[in-house]
Amino acid sequence: MSKTADPALLDALFTAAREARLKAYAPYSRFRVGAALIDEDGNIHSGCNVENAAYPSGTCAEAGAIAAMCLAGGRRIAHVAVIGEGDQPCAPCGNCRQRLREFAMPGLKVHLITQTGPGITHDFTALLPHAFGPEMLP
Ligand code: THU
Repeated sequence: MSKTADPALLDALFTAAREARLKAYAPYSRFRVGAALIDEDGNIHSGCNVENAAYPSGTCAEAGAIAAMCLAGGRRIAHVAVIGEGDQPCAPCGNCRQRLREFAMPGLKVHLITQTGPGITHDFTALLPHAFGPEMLP
């Protein structure tokens, strides 16, 4: 999986994130989030946020997408797209940055897309510099 995914694959990634957002269970915040990943084989996996009446038990869209990737056998993330409500890019929360770090390929791109457009793309390392990762454990 190259760092510069072909435009059709990125398009499919963005569509997957948009569709996942529509499945979100967010009755408390009413802030629906969709996330989609491209793994090392070019496969796409998606997830949505799933809230809970016991608020801290809710899960983020990125966590759902990572679980779907693992279930399908993927272990490395080349691209991730996230979409929330409205025109503002939805930045991954701190916990999700660390969750992504676990599986991040060098050069991981984070695409924060919006309802109205392609949004903004970040290098993952700009979102979580000097991060702790699995290779730091003995
Ligand atoms: N949320 C995500 O799904 N991903 C993020 O990175 C930011 C926040 C969700 C959690 C909660 O269900 C809702 O957005 C409002 O915080």
